[in-house]
Amino acid sequence: MLRMQPPIPARYLDATPEELASWIAAAKSTLGDRVFILGHHYQRDEVMRWADARGDSFRLSQLAADNPTADHIVFCGVHFMAESADILTAPHQQVLLPDLNAGCSMADMADLDSVEEAWEALEDVVDIERVVPVTYMNSSAALKAFVGRAGGAVCTSTNARAVLEWAMGRGDKLLFFPDQHLGRNTALAMGYRHSDLAVWDPRRELGGLSEAECKEATFLLWKGHCSVHQRFTPAQVEAFRTANPEGIVIAHPEAPYQVCEAADSVGSTDFIIKAVAGAAPGSVIAVATEVHLVQRLAAEHPDRTVVSLDPVVCPCSTMFRIDAAHLAWVLEHLVEGRVVNRIAVDPETASWAKVALERMLAIV
Ligand code: 13P
Ligand code: SF4
Repeated sequence: MLRMQPPIPARYLDATPEELASWIAAAKSTLGDRVFILGHHYQRDEVMRWADARGDSFRLSQLAADNPTADHIVFCGVHFMAESADILTAPHQQVLLPDLNAGCSMADMADLDSVEEAWEALEDVVDIERVVPVTYMNSSAALKAFVGRAGGAVCTSTNARAVLEWAMGRGDKLLFFPDQHLGRNTALAMGYRHSDLAVWDPRRELGGLSEAECKEATFLLWKGHCSVHQRFTPAQVEAFRTANPEGIVIAHPEAPYQVCEAADSVGSTDFIIKAVAGAAPGSVIAVATEVHLVQRLAAEHPDRTVVSLDPVVCPCSTMFRIDAAHLAWVLEHLVEGRVVNRIAVDPETASWAKVALERMLAIV
C-alpha cells in the first residue's frame, strides 16, 4: 500500500554519502537526547550506523517506550513497527518514519475490511465465541485493535508458539493473520498436522473453504506471505548441504515449511543473531532471512562463514526505502522545529491495539 511519501528535495538526493553523514551527525548533535533513532536489523549500514538502539520489531517499540526523555523517535524500519512504537510510547512522544512508503507487503495482505468480512462469514458456520484471532506483529494497528476487541492477542516470531498455545487454551479454533507460513510452522512445531490447518483466501467466498473445512480446521491461516522469506526453497538447502556437508542452516519461520523442516534450526531475528553468535568459530552457516542482516552477521563474525541461503540476494525492498538521504531530511526538519512523516495512530485504535499487545506481554 503506497503511503504517498512526497519527494524529498534534490539537495538530499544529490548529496554525497560524506555530505549526508556530516548533516546527520550535525543534526543529531544539535538535537541531543531529544531525538532517539531506532534501527531495525534489516536496515542498511548507512542508516544503521546512526541508530541509538537496534533490535527486532517489538524490541524497538519497547526501547522507544523505555526512553521517555526523547520527544521524537525516528523509526528506521517499516510502517507497522512505527505504529507499534506510537502505541507504546508516552503521549508527548512523536514517532517519525523517514520514508512513508516504507510499508510491509505482508502486513498489507490483510486489511481491516477483509478480516471483518472473514469474521462475519465464519460467524455463520462456526461458534465464533470459540474462535480466537491472533495477529502477527507485522500488521496494521487497525488489525491489532480488531484482535484486542475480539479477545485475541498479537504475537511476534519470537513468541508465536506461546501465544498460539495460550489461544488454544481459550478457544478451539484460531484465525491467524497475515502470515500463513509463521502460522503453519508454529502449529506444526506444536504437534498439529497439516490436516488441522486450512488456508483462508480472503479473495474467495468463505475463504475458498467449504463449511465442513471451516468446522474441521483448528487453524485458519490467512493467505499472506513475506515476499522476501517465501523465496527460500528446499533445493537451496540441498545445494548448500552438498557444497558444505558440515554446514548449518538457520531459517526464519516466515520461510515455507519445507525449508524450515530441512533447516537445522528455525527462529526469529533475535534467535538467528544468537544462533550465529553461539556457533563454533570456523562454522559455515546459511541463513534464510533478509540479506542486510545476513551481511551484518557475516561482518560481525569474521571467524565464521555466514551466507544467505539464497545465492541470488533478496533484500526487503520496503526496508531499503529508508536511506541516509531521508534520515538527514527528517533530522534537519526536526532541528528547524518541524515534524515531518509523523506516524500517529488514532486514540481509539491505539487503546484496543494496546490491549492486544499487553495480552501478548502477559503471556510471554
Ligand atoms: P522481527 O519481528 O523479528 O523484527 O521481524 C520483522 C520482520 O519483518 C521479519 O520479516
Ligand atoms: Fe515485511 Fe517481509 Fe520486509 Fe519483513 S522482510 S518487513 S515481513 S516484507
